[in-house]
Amino acid sequence: MRPLIAGNWKMHGTLREAVKLAEALREGAEGVDLLVCPPFPHIHAVAVSLLGSRVAVGAQDCHAAQRGAHTGDVSAAMLRDAGATHVILGHSERRMDHGENDAAVLAKTEAALGAGLVPIVCVGETEAERLAGLADSVVEKQLAGSVPYGFVTAGGIIAYEPVWAIGTGRTPGEQEIAAIHATLRRALVERFGPSARSTRLLYGGSVKPGNAAAILALPDVDGALVGGASLVAADFLAIARAVPG
Ligand code: PGA
Repeated sequence: MRPLIAGNWKMHGTLREAVKLAEALREGAEGVDLLVCPPFPHIHAVAVSLLGSRVAVGAQDCHAAQRGAHTGDVSAAMLRDAGATHVILGHSERRMDHGENDAAVLAKTEAALGAGLVPIVCVGETEAERLAGLADSVVEKQLAGSVPYGFVTAGGIIAYEPVWAIGTGRTPGEQEIAAIHATLRRALVERFGPSARSTRLLYGGSVKPGNAAAILALPDVDGALVGGASLVAADFLAIARAVPG
């Protein structure tokens, strides 16, 4: 399967900076799919500037409802209309900052699928959970609770992001990443059948040009979800070029 390198721009940058960064990525990288997820107000301009390129555009969240009295929220259909094809859901920063639980992520993922967006559902343990030996059971529970029926056939994507590795410069060992990805693959295949063998499993959490090649070469790692390093075009492209050929 073609690897996906996805950039999560979080709450960074002006509109002008977002468009400039997108333009610097237009050329893309051979043999890899690229995706950038700007903040809501920048999605449309970034999508326009990437028209005709091989770089797709996504959002970082959506509401579970199709419309209604939800001040400050954005629906999946609005994101689609603005030019997004993907949406990150259940990122640990949303789970923490906004109290999103698995049921909320499930409802949002259903809404994304209903609007024709490809959901990227994030799972990952905290440091305390890892130290307690609970990493596998935590991600399995999150997966079971936040991934709906129809996810695999719609091309849904899972991102394994250990909470303690996000923005910290620390990553799990290569064997630890491979072990969790194997757990996720097994759980998906058990639930959805053999078609889940082609579900993309991304690793996220302090992916940088220097560690990308080793991480992306691991079995069942089909790409990366990149935060900090996705804000620098040269770093993001270096990570994309680190995908084993
Ligand atoms: P990071 O963020 O690459 O800055 O660790 C990853 C993420 O939160 O998706």
